[in-house]
Amino acid sequence: MTAKNNLTIIQLDDWHVHVRDAGVLAGVVNFTARQFGRAIIMPNLAPPITSAAAARDYRARILAAVDAKYDFTPLMTCYLTDNIDQGEIETGFMGGVFTACKLYPAGATTNSDHGVTDIGKITNVLETMQRIGMPLLVHGEVTDGDIDIFDREAVFIDRIMSKITRDFPGLKIVFEHITTKQAVDFVKESSANIAATITPHHLVYNRSAIFEGGIRPHLYCLPIAKREVHRLALRAAATSGSAKFFLGTDSAPHSIDAKQSACGCAGVFNAPFALESYACVFDQENALDKLEGFASLHGPDFYGLEPNKRKIVLERADIDVPKTLDIMGTKIIPFHGGEKLNWRFAGLV
Ligand code: NCD
Ligand code: ZN
Repeated sequence: MTAKNNLTIIQLDDWHVHVRDAGVLAGVVNFTARQFGRAIIMPNLAPPITSAAAARDYRARILAAVDAKYDFTPLMTCYLTDNIDQGEIETGFMGGVFTACKLYPAGATTNSDHGVTDIGKITNVLETMQRIGMPLLVHGEVTDGDIDIFDREAVFIDRIMSKITRDFPGLKIVFEHITTKQAVDFVKESSANIAATITPHHLVYNRSAIFEGGIRPHLYCLPIAKREVHRLALRAAATSGSAKFFLGTDSAPHSIDAKQSACGCAGVFNAPFALESYACVFDQENALDKLEGFASLHGPDFYGLEPNKRKIVLERADIDVPKTLDIMGTKIIPFHGGEKLNWRFAGLV
């Protein structure tokens, strides 16, 4: 059988992305808008998005920053805090401002200081969300200092995630940017209202790569990449055809200075070549026929939305990923910077 050289699939969506705000927003968001129809916008700004009014304003800033030639819809999320008002969430969801709520355990990652300190504090919120069918997006890591960083996701499943799914059996949950075999198994064994997103970087490298020949700060993100056995489980899940797994890049840009520091920030800026990166993985796994489901169908299906109307074309061709990008005057190193990828985004039809 000859290898496929062209691929036309329904336009994809990104179910987890950080586009940031003033200063870099216009530079960052257009990398997403040129390929993706919609994206779930993360609310971890400083201060975080915790009201419908703030989400409406942020959405307006995003739309103003998107190039007029793109047809892109940002889907807004509400950042859960210990004191968040469930009425605000319900009104925001019913009014079409919020698509979902984001749960950051306090201290788990970038700008999560205002996150939830104890899941018991948001019982009323979770009950409301379950009742109105609003998805909960979970950063699934415990934050206890005595839990090894590589174990934080697995421990979160045992201590928190299993409790949420037991106490709120009808709640729609996306276990975000999963990094372990335990998370893959948990999602597979759970009911249909539990799904997961998988990033390109967690499909491409394991934890050893972060230390290959020296420390590589641009591969540092949270949750941190795990052992090879986990990467292989993620690749199997993403390419399995299961509707429980879908695309979420977790593209999270930070300036070179913020990454290359004595205490560097977590986040991989993959939006510029995310689609190409996923295509290479699916090709390597002989699963290009499963890419459309993962990238364009399973996500809308979970969120109760129609798939996009347009199609995107990919072709087998070498592309050189720039080593550095200048985003509105801020230098950022993209994922795969300085490497070659062998699938190219050829446009929308
Ligand atoms: C994200 C960021 O920089 O906002 N960083 C990351 O490593 N993924 C936050 C997050 O999603 O954890
Ligand atoms: Zn994220």
